[in-house]
Amino acid sequence: MYILAIESSCDEFSVAILKDDKILSNIISSQIEDHKEYGGVVPELASRLHVQNFNWVLSDSLKKAKVSIDEINYIVYTANPGLIGSLIIGKIVAQTLAQYLQIPLLPLNHLHGHVYSAFIDNKVEFPAIALITSGGHTEITLMKDHLEFEILGSTQDDAIGECFDKVAIKLGLTYPGGPAIEKLAKQSNEAKYKIPKPRDINKYDFSFSGIKTGSINLLHKLKQSNIEIDLNSFAYSFQKTCVEYVIEKLEKAIKEYKPKFVILGGGVSANSMLRSEFQAMAKINNVKSIIPKNEYCTDNAAMIGMLGYVTIQEEGKR
Ligand code: KG4
Ligand code: ZN
Repeated sequence: MYILAIESSCDEFSVAILKDDKILSNIISSQIEDHKEYGGVVPELASRLHVQNFNWVLSDSLKKAKVSIDEINYIVYTANPGLIGSLIIGKIVAQTLAQYLQIPLLPLNHLHGHVYSAFIDNKVEFPAIALITSGGHTEITLMKDHLEFEILGSTQDDAIGECFDKVAIKLGLTYPGGPAIEKLAKQSNEAKYKIPKPRDINKYDFSFSGIKTGSINLLHKLKQSNIEIDLNSFAYSFQKTCVEYVIEKLEKAIKEYKPKFVILGGGVSANSMLRSEFQAMAKINNVKSIIPKNEYCTDNAAMIGMLGYVTIQEEGKR
């Protein structure tokens, strides 16, 4: 069985080809350079660039996989959540292909895709708990079986990546802020600044707007008082607060639900402090941990293809 998967929910247009659960190709056109000058993703620009890019991404992906379009058996695509204009371009491409080839079309959920990125080249056993940390989402999900997603907690305001991006702008860094903050933080290992952690809304929900506002207010205060800011240490203090905050919540969930596996996903999982704290915490709690390869952490079609493969298999069992 050959699956063609499309992901277009934000500023990446990506097409992957799978032979069953094996990824044959995963081509991603990134728009980071195009959005940089605006300090963040401009939705209208993102969808216009998807229109320009989808054709070469599609043909490169088929070429790399050495599969012809007539051999494809299923089309799967990200239907939600995401930027509406960006999602529509992916949907139109998916529908057109499915209609032309007269094959089934499966609309899928982007966040479920992030969870399934951990299943690529890995055998995950249930129950499993996933921590998804991206530019648009922060979520802890419990899975008792395939395709059973019980959201234990999610952000009530900003997402963790969004918080990195917004604080980075105030530090004079460019978009995307996450990697820029990490680069500064690596020059320091001292948390000189006290970034306030939000009070618990409830056990597993997050709030990042408090960390964002607290960091920005502290920066303003230091500037107004003409106190020189150690940017490296500021970045380190901010990053440490965010990482500790998500890991503390995840650890609570692991203690309560005792999963066999714990999974990390989403763009922020490229962060080396988050990765090492995640692995250390899993080890202490005797849980097997999986962090997908970087190309499967940020937005990509391979994860949507993997979710599609499992969905087709599970529907076949019914
Ligand atoms: O998953 P993703 O590619 O797109 C969304 O679904 O949002 O995540 C993008 C986010 C951005 O906010 C970016 O700043 C953040 O991931 N990010 C990082 C790092 N690399 C990317 N955050 C912290 N440290 C990093 N190394
Ligand atoms: Zn995403």
